[in-house]
Amino acid sequence: MSLIITFFWLPALNFALNFSNTFTRFMKWSQFFTSVVGRKIVMALTGFFLISFLLVHVGLNSTIFNDLSWFDKNDNGSMFNRAAHFMGASLVIRIMEFGLFAGFILHIIQGYAITIKNRKLRGTGYKKSLGERGSKWYSRSMAILGTLIFLFLIMHVSHFWVPSRITHNLQPVTYNNIETHNLFIKMYETFQQPLIVILYVLGVIALAYHLFHGFHSAFRSMGVHNKKYLRLLTIFGYGFTIMIAILFSLMPISMYFDWVGPN
Ligand code: HEM
Repeated sequence: MSLIITFFWLPALNFALNFSNTFTRFMKWSQFFTSVVGRKIVMALTGFFLISFLLVHVGLNSTIFNDLSWFDKNDNGSMFNRAAHFMGASLVIRIMEFGLFAGFILHIIQGYAITIKNRKLRGTGYKKSLGERGSKWYSRSMAILGTLIFLFLIMHVSHFWVPSRITHNLQPVTYNNIETHNLFIKMYETFQQPLIVILYVLGVIALAYHLFHGFHSAFRSMGVHNKKYLRLLTIFGYGFTIMIAILFSLMPISMYFDWVGPN
């Protein structure tokens, strides 16, 4: 938690305070949201927020691995189900969920707006792309990668969030006299289909490439230009991304191969 605060939110807060002072002297909010700099800042702030969410999400979901025989083969998803229940029952978390969906929507809208603007500018400026010499392929494909993640999210939310929060058609399970949804069984059943497992792994790969660029780029948009610090952030970003990509991919894979599942 302290890592999240130090790396993401303290620089963001510091920036916000300085920024609000200078901002009020120069432009209106409506101008800010449509200016190039404003759009990049919105992308960076929503990006930080979504990265923080991913860290919590991967941490909570990793409790399914408690079922691995060398941890506790009788866990049967109880740790994960109880953690998910705690998240679902808390009013604060439910309110934050709305913030999360708003964050996704803002990030997507501003992302497309920046891409369209860049394309238009490129159309009137240097027509020849610098290709490999200019940047990595994934840095030039952020909109495509973002679209793939968006498609993944539609499928993903319909698999788990909708039955758990909207339609409530999941098997019940009781721990300490408290009844909750058996999301663990739902996950296990979902990941018995090879096509779904492949789509999840592809979704996670798209997310990883999106973050390879997005992580350090967000800091750059927030005004970090020191080369040494940016290099450090890039390396940290790669490490963070690889770690969450491996954990997320192992979830569908380990359930498909029955390393993790009901006993
Ligand atoms: C690949 C492994 C993943 C698994 C097994 C997984 C599992 C789940 C489950 C079980 C829920 C429902 C939680 C509940 O209703 O209590 C959920 C919700 C959600 N997941 Fe994932 N997830 C994975 C990856 C991702 C990724 C990569 C993203 C983002 C790019 C993501 C974004 C979301 C969102 C936005 C929600 C709804 C909000 C929430 O419930 O907090 N998930 N996921």
